[in-house]
Amino acid sequence: MYSIIAYTCPLVLPRAQKRRKGSGTEEFDHIGQQNVKDVAGKTAFVTGGASGMGLAMVRSFANAGMKVAVADIEAEPLNAVVEEFEETNASVIGLQVDVADLESVTEGAAKTREAFGQIHVLVNNAGIVTGGTFAEAEPNDWRWTMNVNLDGVYNGLNAFLADMIAHGEGGHVVNTASLAGHIAVPNLGVYGTSKFAVVGLSETLRIELVEHGIGVSVLCPGVVNTNIFTAGRNRPSTLAAERETNFERARTDSEIADNEVMRNIIEPDVVGDMVLHAIQNDQFYIFTHPDFAPIVRARTQEIENAFAYWTEYCG
Ligand SMILES: NC(=O)c1ccc[n+]([C@@H]2O[C@H](COP(=O)([O-])OP(=O)(O)OC[C@H]3O[C@@H](n4cnc5c(N)ncnc54)[C@H](O)[C@@H]3O)[C@@H](O)[C@H]2O)c1
Repeated sequence: MYSIIAYTCPLVLPRAQKRRKGSGTEEFDHIGQQNVKDVAGKTAFVTGGASGMGLAMVRSFANAGMKVAVADIEAEPLNAVVEEFEETNASVIGLQVDVADLESVTEGAAKTREAFGQIHVLVNNAGIVTGGTFAEAEPNDWRWTMNVNLDGVYNGLNAFLADMIAHGEGGHVVNTASLAGHIAVPNLGVYGTSKFAVVGLSETLRIELVEHGIGVSVLCPGVVNTNIFTAGRNRPSTLAAERETNFERARTDSEIADNEVMRNIIEPDVVGDMVLHAIQNDQFYIFTHPDFAPIVRARTQEIENAFAYWTEYCG
């Protein structure tokens, strides 16, 4: 039983690893170095960096003295970001990248290294949303959502991780999930599935990267005032939707727009600073809306109750 916990629980694993390797703590001295506390002069690659939370991170990172590669599929906003920083001393480059395309991300990684040298912080943030119930969801909703929200994260890891491990200077990976990666949200099931996957991926990644001095954070926002509501602007024609979804109807419905979730909307610049703080302080989960803790707790409580039920059943 204990070995299962040791292999699956991130909080337990470092101790378990220590035991498996069988020697003193000196082998684990490097663990403290995964914390990229001193970010000035380090390089970050931020996907979806031309808008919303990605742009806010770019601003927070640049203000902290980091060199930043802004990767985004949208050319015009990308140019606007580069122009914004031309007036300053910040080292910021813009790269047109499609995170759903591994070749495109790999090319972005090469260009970033060419411009700035080693990359220390990878932010897999680009994302889109599709809505509607599972019964309504079209195959193209599923494909586009997974291509960007899940494959996009994998492609970032594939393009950057090997070098981040090899250069040995430590680093940090941030993956943007969502509060919908912790709780079920009706009409957001396809999106939520991609975000639950990003949370799970990040939890595993965190365990695997400890020994390489690379920290991991998973950003789990509630509603943030960004351009996500017009995500369809980046939908490829090859994956077009055949009909309007509940999500599009929902965002124009004043009753829904005035619900509790929408009343708790926050501005992206707050999130940019939270992500920088999480990197500097090696914080794994980043919850932008702590008020929603009871909803997540209700889910974990139900799981605990189920364990109690089945423990009794199994005698
Ligand atoms: N805004 C919210 O309420 C909210 C809540 C939870 C999670 N999120 C997540 O936050 C992340 C950032 O979204 P945002 O809210 O800032 O929205 P946004 O639309 O303002 O920014 C997303 C950026 O990703 C880019 N993008 C989309 N597809 C891409 C692709 N294939 N390749 C490269 N770039 C691509 C867009 O051009 C855009 O610049 C997403 O992963 C989203 O799912 C958002």
